[in-house]
Amino acid sequence: MTDLIQTVTDGFTSRFDAAPAGLWSAPGRVNLIGEHTDYNDGFVFPFAINRRTLVGLGLRGDRQLRVASSFAAETVELSLDDLTPENLAGWSAYPLGVAWALGQFGADLATLPGFNVFIDSDVPIGAGLSSSAAIESAVAVALNDLWQLGLDRRMLARVGQLAENRAVGAPTGIMDQSASLLGEADSAVFLDCRTLEAEVIPLGFDGAGLDLLVIDTRVSHAHSTGGYASRRASCGLGARMLGVPSLRDLTVDDLGRAADVLDDETFRRVRHVVTENQRVQDTVRTLREQGPTAIGALLDASHLSMRDDFEISVPELDLAVETARGTGAIGARMTGGGFGGAAIALTPRALIPAVTAAVTAAFAARAFAVPDLFVVRAADGAAREQ
Ligand code: GLA
Repeated sequence: MTDLIQTVTDGFTSRFDAAPAGLWSAPGRVNLIGEHTDYNDGFVFPFAINRRTLVGLGLRGDRQLRVASSFAAETVELSLDDLTPENLAGWSAYPLGVAWALGQFGADLATLPGFNVFIDSDVPIGAGLSSSAAIESAVAVALNDLWQLGLDRRMLARVGQLAENRAVGAPTGIMDQSASLLGEADSAVFLDCRTLEAEVIPLGFDGAGLDLLVIDTRVSHAHSTGGYASRRASCGLGARMLGVPSLRDLTVDDLGRAADVLDDETFRRVRHVVTENQRVQDTVRTLREQGPTAIGALLDASHLSMRDDFEISVPELDLAVETARGTGAIGARMTGGGFGGAAIALTPRALIPAVTAAVTAAFAARAFAVPDLFVVRAADGAAREQ
């Protein structure tokens, strides 16, 4: 974090000839369990991680918006008068999309002043750890403060989601921004995506001698194209054919009827979502009653369901999961939207080097890209830093 504070302070000052009015940060996230359930009004159980995006922001005397970052040479400039999703493109669509989305949630964009913003991040991009939600959430809390909007964290999560949906064009749910905004150290966020009721639940990994290992496969993915949207469409179709508002309204007892009504592919998509919702609730209960060493089988089952029913895994993710399990992880699954990105392996601390070596060797043997493995801790959500 000290590094980010330095680069953002220096970057802001050199691009904008002034110090920022403040610094705000927001984390990436790992989803422990509950995949593709958020846009089906279901349950998710993610946590904020100790990788963060930091933004420096200062208001201007005019209506210009200027966006710069340490990952692009250019400074993007736009007037608040021209701020529409159609006018946004590239990486600046994330921060500027948030400014636009705040207007949809009550900010009076016709009268507010413009701003300068500089962004840096140590959340890996394209790894499935929600680098985009980290940017959106950091900018959302910063503008909420400086524009004095008074929106609460749940509302800011919806702002970030709207930016992602309309400005970036990815039809994603509410999970990532909620984790980034509501997370707390050593805990995960049990979120009901229908009511947005959230409960922060201690994970107890440390006390149980466990670490959460992230295996970034380096297979990059984008949710604004292809598979993510088609899975979402299948879920919508399944719900319509079964006569329910969303798949959240089904339980495992309904799967027999679903099998009769739906074609095989739609049925398997539905079965993933219905059983995954159940697994999230089982994970939360198991964690409370028996502690984290007892949740491994639920993580494993979640991966199989994504591999076989929802069909969003890739060979690299499957190999990461199988190898981690084979060398001592107590549970493992791909995390995030799928089609690439990262897997997670809940692993006894002493076995982290062995699992890391085994996964790296297994990837080399299959001539896959060199994976990046690192331990993450559950961290606090978005905050003002200075
Ligand atoms: C991506 C989306 C989330 C969620 C997950 C899958 O991370 O941004 O909203 O749908 O995929 O669980």
